[in-house]
Amino acid sequence: ALPLIIDTDPGQDDCIAILLALASPELKVLGLTTVAGNVAAPLTARNALRICELAKRGDVPVFAGCERPLLNQPYHSPEIHGESGLDGAHLPEPRMKLQPQHAVDWLVETLMARGDHATIIAAIAPLTNIAMALRREPRIANKIAKLVVMGGSLRVGGNMTPAAEFNVFVDPHAAQIVFDSGIEIALFPLDVTWKIRARQEHVDRLRASKSAAARTVADLMDFYLGTEAMAEGGLGAPLHDACTIAWLLDPKLFRGSRLAIKVETGSPLTLGMTVPDWRGLWGGPANVEAFEEADAPRIFDLLIERLGRL
Ligand code: BDR
Ligand code: CA
Repeated sequence: ALPLIIDTDPGQDDCIAILLALASPELKVLGLTTVAGNVAAPLTARNALRICELAKRGDVPVFAGCERPLLNQPYHSPEIHGESGLDGAHLPEPRMKLQPQHAVDWLVETLMARGDHATIIAAIAPLTNIAMALRREPRIANKIAKLVVMGGSLRVGGNMTPAAEFNVFVDPHAAQIVFDSGIEIALFPLDVTWKIRARQEHVDRLRASKSAAARTVADLMDFYLGTEAMAEGGLGAPLHDACTIAWLLDPKLFRGSRLAIKVETGSPLTLGMTVPDWRGLWGGPANVEAFEEADAPRIFDLLIERLGRL
């Protein structure tokens, strides 16, 4: 199984991504690291524990990480995810506790111990923990086989500002460190995640499942369908973060192109914008594979089948 660490800020779509990973035998989840993002850091850590409990996976260690972005003020979005970060469903009280070690220390220690290009990280939150780990121990760049990131936008504008997507907007300085690190990145920007929209039919299919965890996801999705502004007009609610895990399970579900990307950190107007170098004008290495197309029906079939196993 592919060894995977998930860096996350649960979060409605984070929850679905984590459960998809935990339900899939192709992946071995080494641990979850949490960070401030959709809601404040204590809540994202607690939600990660609740998600593991829901999946009956108390064996997966959870490490709490950075409580605020590198330079900017914290920014949360309870209007999308609810005050708890996982409003809409009843998740169990966790029996297991947070690990005592800081997420950044554990990331460095684990990546260094596992060897070159030996570990995959799915980063589905502001990139604060990953950037801190890179600054703490630059040699981890060589230890990561692939950094699978949900964040940014290539051609479709942002969801936070006209220019910027949430994860990059919240900690643009961290994102800049990560994109400039040379690590091989598989990027799932809004261009593709806005095509993976949950609708009532998906909620209904999950609700019909024999798995209690799948039915809990149906409750979450119901809530998320109501809050996610883009759900208006029947378009549905985008399952941004789940794309990263679906791709690890079946890369053929997505199509993209290789390029270099830089992050704007100076301009008030375009803060957190991801700038793709479509024509190779910078002349540097194209370390990002950025996805724009996906087979949405097959992704939902995969998701619903896997959640049904929990
Ligand atoms: C990203 O921001 C968060 O709200 C979601 O969990 C996802 O990671 C989408 O812009
Ligand atoms: Ca997220």
